[in-house]
Amino acid sequence: MIEFEDVTKRYPDGTVAVDKLSLRIPSNQITVFVGPSGCGKTTSLRMINRTIERTSGTISIDGDDINGKDAVTLRRGIGYVIQNAGLFPHKTVVENVATVPKLIGWDKRKAHSTAMELLERVGLDVKLAERYPAQLSGGQQQRVGVARALAADPAIMLMDEPFSAVDPIVRHQLQEELLRLQRDIGKTIVFVTHDIDEAIKLGDNVAVLRVGGKLAQFAPPAELLANPADEFVRGFVGQDRGYRALTFVHPEALPVKPLPDELALQDGVPLGWRNGSEELLPVGSVFKRGDSLRAALDAVLTSPTGCGVCVDDNGKAVGVIDQATVAEALRS
Ligand SMILES: Nc1ncnc2c1ncn2[C@@H]1O[C@H](COP(=O)(O)OP(=O)(O)OP(=O)(O)O)[C@@H](O)[C@H]1O
Ligand SMILES: [Mg+2]
Repeated sequence: MIEFEDVTKRYPDGTVAVDKLSLRIPSNQITVFVGPSGCGKTTSLRMINRTIERTSGTISIDGDDINGKDAVTLRRGIGYVIQNAGLFPHKTVVENVATVPKLIGWDKRKAHSTAMELLERVGLDVKLAERYPAQLSGGQQQRVGVARALAADPAIMLMDEPFSAVDPIVRHQLQEELLRLQRDIGKTIVFVTHDIDEAIKLGDNVAVLRVGGKLAQFAPPAELLANPADEFVRGFVGQDRGYRALTFVHPEALPVKPLPDELALQDGVPLGWRNGSEELLPVGSVFKRGDSLRAALDAVLTSPTGCGVCVDDNGKAVGVIDQATVAEALRS
């Protein structure tokens, strides 16, 4: 656990970036700091690895005040990922990832093989290992940044808007990969973003900060959407919070109906809806058994027939759901 107790940061010019912040960041989970620009997210994050020194208060890791440790030793146990990855431009991809392991004295071969494994783990084609960062796309660079931060197997990972500079599709992929990776590695991750959707998607817990570095609310995402603490949080969480809260509703078993004849299939995979003409109408979004009510509702809303298609893990259609059934689930 990382604990902030009454932590204040006042910069030399008098700016109070963080004001008496107290919160507990549980181990082996993702905690997201979210809030408007300038609210002190980066400052709070960097005080954890002491690349910014706090003015007053205490930050402890598993009960030990971080000021009692040598800053360099502290930082080696903490991975750090930033926007645009911050890779060393004159080192190849694999050398970038192997940097810290070599620094802490691993032999070259072990550092290299670990780096190659990590590149694979973050979903990067290992053929790119000998390239230089400038020869990669933004999304690929971000993956290398994550691999590099994981290289010395730190217990803690600090991530400062790591996915902000890539397009929405790549961003979505990187988010999914991070969640998948976290299921394996179970690190204590502190993730900064100004995007509330990203916070809700990634966070086991979300700390909403307001300008002046004050904590507005600390809660799991479902709680944040259901019960915003005040007007500021309500405004920040957004207008359609009721709809987004459906992300966290997993109906036991939505009763799906048998596949209608109008649904055209190829090897069980839905192709489109027949409507009497040559061309098929698009299927709409699909959902899986066990998916959230939001996914089921979206399938119904995007289907031209009003029937949402339920698929199995192989993408094969297993049934459909109609608007009335979703409406019934919404009421219960
Ligand atoms: N070195 C500095 N000297 C003086 N003020 C600073 C310094 N660094 C940051 N600040 C100020 O501290 C406040 C918090 O900055 P910080 O970078 O922590 O915000 P942030 O929440 O990360 O913002 P963003 O979303 O834009 O990245 C801002 O008002 C900023 O101008
Ligand atoms: Mg910042």
